[in-house]
Amino acid sequence: MANQEKILVVGAAGQIGTELVLELRLRYGAETIVASDIKTPNYDVMEGGIFEFLDILDDKALLKIVQKHNIKQVYQLAALLSATAEQNPMFAWKLNMEGLFNILNLAKEKIIDKIFWPSSIAVFGSTTPKIQTPQITITEPSSVYGISKLSGERWCEYYFKKFNVDVRSVRYPGLISHKSQPGGGTTDYAVHIFYEAKKHQNYECFLKSDCTLPMMYMDDAIDATISLMEAPGNKIKIRSSYNIAGVSFNPKELVTEIKRHIPEFTASYSPDYRQQLAESWPAEIDESIAYNDWGWKSQYDMPFIVNQMLKNI
Ligand code: NAD
Ligand code: SER
Repeated sequence: MANQEKILVVGAAGQIGTELVLELRLRYGAETIVASDIKTPNYDVMEGGIFEFLDILDDKALLKIVQKHNIKQVYQLAALLSATAEQNPMFAWKLNMEGLFNILNLAKEKIIDKIFWPSSIAVFGSTTPKIQTPQITITEPSSVYGISKLSGERWCEYYFKKFNVDVRSVRYPGLISHKSQPGGGTTDYAVHIFYEAKKHQNYECFLKSDCTLPMMYMDDAIDATISLMEAPGNKIKIRSSYNIAGVSFNPKELVTEIKRHIPEFTASYSPDYRQQLAESWPAEIDESIAYNDWGWKSQYDMPFIVNQMLKNI
């Protein structure tokens, strides 16, 4: 990346944004990264570099910030996640789509050069093959969130083909992190469980014990994100969104691993509306195209993640 190019992160106070901003500042220098959100981020994000309050739905305010800082790349993370989106479908559709369009249009107008926008395993649905889910397969999502992510993927590819917009994307699995809390997804159980295990040695899980989902440690997710953005453009063959796999496990397997560290830990299961969302998603993802195209592979397994989470929270 050229030295003077500035990067805007939208949604910098969220689960991914918090860690992405810290890593981008480390790699490229704090003066190069502009963090932004509608809410105040944690102390490190707020005080460790540039921060701007920005509502991604306000395209005029967005343009002002882009011009003020001479922004050339944008990571657009602001969205409602799967569980929250089901509570407010029309607003989820508005935020998830208009937020993306506001950024895509800046690139179409050649005001910015490069975009990262995340998709999700929620683009898949119950008709998708559940095991080793291929890059290109049936995508019939049943959640508001999944519908918005699939539409976003189609628009990203459209803007690339039609307007030569350099937009890059991965389909994140459920993310597990200890520096920031998850923001209303179906996979949030796999973060909450560690807090409850340490505090109360007990957790009531909102998914069934055998509900296997693809999950990923945040370090892997951040590495995939930045590697994709740094890859030469001619390597990026998929302009909708790349599958990335992480590691697959169910709540019962996670409980068993936590018990190796906290033997008195117990869990109970009271599935709610999120079970239906989780059931429609794949259990295990094939990420071979990401490896073939830009050389990326998931690293961290479940015992490593459990160890890190219990050590750090
Ligand atoms: P999050 O909910 O933790 O963070 C989203 C951030 O966006 C929040 O800080 C919120 O304040 C901000 N935001 C909301 N509305 C905004 C607006 N109008 N303008 C500016 N900022 C606004 O979400 P996350 O987990 O960090 O996810 C980031 C992106 O990654 C989302 O697009 C999400 O769909 C995607 N994703 C996340 C996961 C995961 O497991 N965390 C998995 C797949 C995809
Ligand atoms: N972790 C996300 C969610 O559960 C998947 O995109 O919403």
